[in-house]
Amino acid sequence: MKRIAIVIVTIGILILGGVVISMYENNHKSQSNRSSATVTKSHTNHKGKTLVVYLSRTGHTQEVAQLIHREVGGDLLRLTTAKSYPKKYQDMLATAQSEQDANARPKLRGTLPNLDDYQTIFLGYPIWWNKNPMAINTFLNHYHSLEGKTIYPFTTSGSSGLGSSVSELKKNAPEAEFGKGLPITDDQMTRAPELVKNWVKEIGF
Ligand SMILES: Cc1cc2nc3c(=O)[nH]c(=O)nc-3n(C[C@H](O)[C@H](O)[C@H](O)COP(=O)(O)O)c2cc1C
Repeated sequence: MKRIAIVIVTIGILILGGVVISMYENNHKSQSNRSSATVTKSHTNHKGKTLVVYLSRTGHTQEVAQLIHREVGGDLLRLTTAKSYPKKYQDMLATAQSEQDANARPKLRGTLPNLDDYQTIFLGYPIWWNKNPMAINTFLNHYHSLEGKTIYPFTTSGSSGLGSSVSELKKNAPEAEFGKGLPITDDQMTRAPELVKNWVKEIGF
């Protein structure tokens, strides 16, 4: 009798053990399904490898670039000219004006990245005399062709918005596609996080 009781208890333990293992396995399986579904989803939503690249003299465009980068991920690159720009505003006005008059291509510092793997480029700059800084053209002209890439311009300015910069960019990267730009004026900077969030959503990120 005692032996029969031991056998029944042992069988009970084995059945219970089997149920617990099977529950664990099912749970584990559905968790790994969940994580692969998340990866697939974020993969589908992502518009290829993304670069956020910008030039900024006094920090406004840099702030916007960092906000965009936080939203869309990818890589972040700051462009600086080989020759530093004047600190004094009046001197800077004159320098930017003479670069535009000369249709200059100011040299950029460092090595520019290979863009082969990038599909989406967020390109930011301050508006200078209603246009993009000429060094942005240096960046675009560095590449033989930007075919297959979509450029989303973003600007900071006193009041000019995108100014006439987008047509300038198109001339300098004729093969690229251009998406809707984001202009932020200096007095909108406190609202930049919200403006960036709305814009990246609107353009499908
Ligand atoms: C040389 C120069 C030219 C500028 N030209 C304009 C302009 O045409 N229109 C405008 O609204 N703001 C103009 N601004 C103001 C800047 O675009 C604005 O302050 C911008 O936010 C600066 O960005 P940053 O801090 O990234 O350098 C100019 C500023 C400089 C230094």
